Amino acid sequence: MSEAQNVLLSDPASGKSVELPLIHGSVGPACIDIAALPKATGHFTYDQGFIATASCKSAITYIDGDAGVLMYRGYPIEQLAQHSNFLEVAYLLMNGELPNAAQFAAFDHEVAHHTMMHEAFRTFLFGFRHDAHPMAMLTGMIGSLAAFYHHGLDLEDPDMRRLAAIRLIAKVPTIAAACYRYSIGWPLRYPRNNLEYVDRFLHMMFEVPSEPLQLNPVVAKALDLLFILHADHEQNASTSTVRLVGSTGANPYACVAAGVAALWGPAHGGANEAVLRMLAEIGRPQDVGKAVERAKDKNSGFRLMGFGHRVYKNFDPRATIIRQMTHKVLAELGVNDPMLEVALKLEEAALKDEYFVSRKLYPNVDFYSGIIYKALGIPTEMFTVMFAIARTVGWVSHWLEQSAEHDSKIGRPRQVYVGATKRDFTPIASR
Ligand code: SDX
Repeated sequence: MSEAQNVLLSDPASGKSVELPLIHGSVGPACIDIAALPKATGHFTYDQGFIATASCKSAITYIDGDAGVLMYRGYPIEQLAQHSNFLEVAYLLMNGELPNAAQFAAFDHEVAHHTMMHEAFRTFLFGFRHDAHPMAMLTGMIGSLAAFYHHGLDLEDPDMRRLAAIRLIAKVPTIAAACYRYSIGWPLRYPRNNLEYVDRFLHMMFEVPSEPLQLNPVVAKALDLLFILHADHEQNASTSTVRLVGSTGANPYACVAAGVAALWGPAHGGANEAVLRMLAEIGRPQDVGKAVERAKDKNSGFRLMGFGHRVYKNFDPRATIIRQMTHKVLAELGVNDPMLEVALKLEEAALKDEYFVSRKLYPNVDFYSGIIYKALGIPTEMFTVMFAIARTVGWVSHWLEQSAEHDSKIGRPRQVYVGATKRDFTPIASR
């Protein structure tokens, strides 16, 4: 961390001024440490949606929104997408370094041997309505892990913290596949330890008793790459949620269940499902113009799902990779999806429109991912579940990083109070 400097803030109204420390990271914008502000000036800061506020220090992921840069532990996402695999990226995000062959083999073995669930989970799962949204089931099922792994859980013990992270990385695919199969009335499938991480998930998702599943390497490679791209993304809403819940010392499975709930929103991870529904609603390439005009109309309440980003004011590098991948995967699978042409036309129309250009609204990670998931045979309602499987790695990595800090504080933002000022109670008879 480079030498801290100070910035001087002055309040003309009170004539007060205060020097505040400027904190520099290893790369990226410096941050003003405002801890001393209230005492020095009596003021708090206000930043709706935390647009300009750093909530923590982290060494896991770096994003440069203007340059369209994304790095996991310093490795550019483009290099990891080209050369790595999801489980190796999971090791990197959790531990900070890429594993050597022995470390990877041990990690792979450890994850594989934590994929099974207590049989009582079946009773819990079978209590859901068949038509329950898989994200509702996933939220509940991951939260229920806290019921199985709580007594004796000493979060001061780094080995116990790490085991919780491994269990989540290992069990979330098992739970996700179980939610899907339950929703379509298929018998559940146990994880196969002889399969790689993604093949093991695909087997649990799609294998049927009546015939052996032919695993398709194109499907597995595409899903592995999508998992790499979705694994982490700095202090996004769901990761910030996991950190906030974790800051209270809560059970780690409950923390990740809170992250799943936050991811489900259509403004966040739920956008990938919303994109497919939007493309289907637009229907034809010749109708994208109407959708663009509708998205520009503030009264319509309609937004182009998969467009825009709080941080990226340039192309989301993940969207660029997924866009290239979409053509390749559909061609390799021999899939001709008319939604792809609608998506390409919509992107072309929006990127030429001043409304989107002036607001720097570009396609984000969710814009094309749904088209690939659909080509891989993943049902639309499972798209955000796919996102959650991958982002579990980011969530547990941030939870581990925060849990290891000795100066970690409970997250407790303040507010601007705009309600009634002091007044006296009046009996109902006189109201
Ligand atoms: C993810 O944070 C992360 O890193 C998230 C994520 C991750 O990996 O964790 O990257 C994953 O969540 C990607 C985003 C997926 N969401 C969507 O695709 C939903 C559609 N996009 C948005 O609703 C919106 O762009 C957000 C939520 C993504 C970002 O919202 P911001 O940063 O709060 O921006 P804003 O809502 O203040 O919008 C700024 C302007 C507004 O217009 P003006 O008030 O300036 O006139 O841009 C407009 C908005 O109306 N705008 C859009 C738009 N997104 C923003 N207008 C039309 N269509 C859109 N999609």
